Amino acid sequence: MPTATPLNDKIAAVTGGGGGIGGSISRLFAEAGAAVVVNDIDAELAAAAVGDITDAGGRATAVVGDITDAAVVAEFHRAAVDFGDGRVDVLVNNVGDYRPGMGRFLKTTEADWDAQIDITLRHVLRCSHAFLPTMIDGGGGTVVNMSTVESMRGITRMAVYSAANAAVSAFTRCLALEMAEHDIRVNCIAPDMAMTLQTPLDAMLRGRPLEHAERWIPLSRFGDPEEFAQVALFLASDQSSFMTGQTIPVDGGTMTAQGWYRRADGRGFTNLPDAP
Ligand SMILES: NC(=O)c1ccc[n+]([C@@H]2O[C@H](COP(=O)([O-])OP(=O)(O)OC[C@H]3O[C@@H](n4cnc5c(N)ncnc54)[C@H](O)[C@@H]3O)[C@@H](O)[C@H]2O)c1
Repeated sequence: MPTATPLNDKIAAVTGGGGGIGGSISRLFAEAGAAVVVNDIDAELAAAAVGDITDAGGRATAVVGDITDAAVVAEFHRAAVDFGDGRVDVLVNNVGDYRPGMGRFLKTTEADWDAQIDITLRHVLRCSHAFLPTMIDGGGGTVVNMSTVESMRGITRMAVYSAANAAVSAFTRCLALEMAEHDIRVNCIAPDMAMTLQTPLDAMLRGRPLEHAERWIPLSRFGDPEEFAQVALFLASDQSSFMTGQTIPVDGGTMTAQGWYRRADGRGFTNLPDAP
């Protein structure tokens, strides 16, 4: 049964846990009772998250560094094991970014592909490889990965981003099967339209009025990072105790709309973007 503090006494490790969706995940997980190990490349964001959690009476520690670096993954894992006295219950592989290596596919280079695969996929494999043996020894746990709705539909200039995120969801499914016998559940979130450092409102609208977003997002607004963190909490806790291997879109309805837009006159939806 759901409880008010669904992560009570759990040790949670969150990559990119200083800002954006990850920053909300760290803070919400702490509110839910977890002690949180925050990795972030940005020392100030990491310190702010740890400060907010400890100020509120929680436990947290930071591991500052680039999670695409294998040495940082090793340090993150070591710090989490120390912090948890040998136990880690929850791993959130949150870091990802659409910008590295972006461009029309035929204009991109192998270096672009490597940059994108490194920021989206490789560290998810590395962190999982490092943390899962600890969870197995501890008798169970949960992993929450971060993908994107762009892995479920075609998108130009982001072919490698889309493919790498589809791989994160495929990895989620396969790992869920391999880990089931260890009582470890592995699930994934596919966000869209979060208002974060990576996708601030101005950059997403590119000069268009806010009403534009009200038409293209069925729920008529961008998502607050905490709305994504709430789904991560659900997947990390016993509230989702019979779910594993799933990728859940959290997108204000954009995947459901599939090319349909709210009409400007407010009378339902249209698939003609220039309709009134
Ligand atoms: N924002 C969206 O609408 C959206 C849409 C689809 C998918 N996503 C995915 O959700 C996840 C979180 O997105 P966000 O918008 O909150 O991102 P963000 O860029 O706003 O925040 C990312 C956090 O991770 C940290 N970080 C970045 N690179 C790092 C690295 N190499 N090592 C360690 N820390 C690093 C940043 O400092 C920041 O605190 C990402 O995987 C992203 O691809 C987001």
